[in-house]
Amino acid sequence: MVEKYKSEHLYEWMVTVRRILHQHPELAFKEVETAKILMAELDKLEIAYNYNGPGNAVIGRLPCKHPAAPVVALRADMDALPGTENTGLPFAACMKDKMHACGHDAHMTMVLGAAALLKVSPPPCHVLFIFQPAEEKGGGARVVLESGALQGVSAIFGGHVTHHYRVGEIMVADGVITAQSDRFSIHIKGKGGHGARPHEATDAIVITGLLIAAMQTLVSREINPVYPAVVTIGTVHAGSAPNVIAAEAILEGSIRTTLPEVRDRIHNGLKRMARAMGELHNAKVEIDITQGYPPVVNTTRETYIAYRAAQKVVGHAGLMTLDHPSMGSEDFSYYLQKIPGCYVRFGARRHENEYIPLHSPEFDINEEVLKVGAAFFDEVVREAAQEFSS
Ligand code: NI
Repeated sequence: MVEKYKSEHLYEWMVTVRRILHQHPELAFKEVETAKILMAELDKLEIAYNYNGPGNAVIGRLPCKHPAAPVVALRADMDALPGTENTGLPFAACMKDKMHACGHDAHMTMVLGAAALLKVSPPPCHVLFIFQPAEEKGGGARVVLESGALQGVSAIFGGHVTHHYRVGEIMVADGVITAQSDRFSIHIKGKGGHGARPHEATDAIVITGLLIAAMQTLVSREINPVYPAVVTIGTVHAGSAPNVIAAEAILEGSIRTTLPEVRDRIHNGLKRMARAMGELHNAKVEIDITQGYPPVVNTTRETYIAYRAAQKVVGHAGLMTLDHPSMGSEDFSYYLQKIPGCYVRFGARRHENEYIPLHSPEFDINEEVLKVGAAFFDEVVREAAQEFSS
């Protein structure tokens, strides 16, 4: 077989590390064993690191002999998801209630692979290897930023595996690539009563039905159709018996948008509809909206750096662009609010025509993607060093 990627010789080691990480999934901010596995590998590579105790972040450092050289950061997320793995893999999760269903085991391994390549042949810049806790929940990126560990970083790069592309394909796109994700909960307080005497009650379930129908017009009638937006009601809880009018109902849902003005319009629209529906039907309707991760907005200069690196690794044929942002979300966005950078996607499906969504109990990757990711992260650091020193 022709040696295709610079990281080819690391493959066996990367597969071993990825499988160990895969077997030991840990939830957000509980990545203690994961941190230990990473530190053991960094020790073997003779790369110094800081372990950020309770946050579990591990930050490896490869210093440059020129102190004034730029600092380039690579970021991998560490956490797994709740849920039972159903892959049947020999290295499936040891425990029944957690699994690496989002490929973060692969991301950590790719950054370790890049660390191995960069250690052997150091680039003309300082490199930080950021292993970040709690991407899925809790915004670990913010914790890392607030720790001050990224002060002086010139650019940051990260990536995610996906079944949308084949192995050997890297998606690089400028600008907005993921959505802002917010949550809402609506509490409808009516008046309970006997199912036969509606005139004595205020039926929270009828108000819920009307409100759900009204909310469907928010995106379809109030948002410019060229801008993406989603309002999903994920849970509805109300009622206790067939012949009892429900006094209360609780709805919960998710809002996805890519522009602040669209987000504000949906937030205001939801509040307006909740208030109006309460007034219309003589109930108390409370709404609570929690802002989630902001959109990932890649910066242009760093996107071109990533583009050149990807082209070196997978050639023209492997370079993918994005027609439209994903409506998923990612806390890499917090870094990009402070530091220029680019977030990419690595094709990882195992067979042609296979599509297993992230977060599904069957999720697995084609491990060949580890080579692509490691080679890309190595190359992007070198490209960035060159760009910033020229
Ligand atoms: Ni993920």
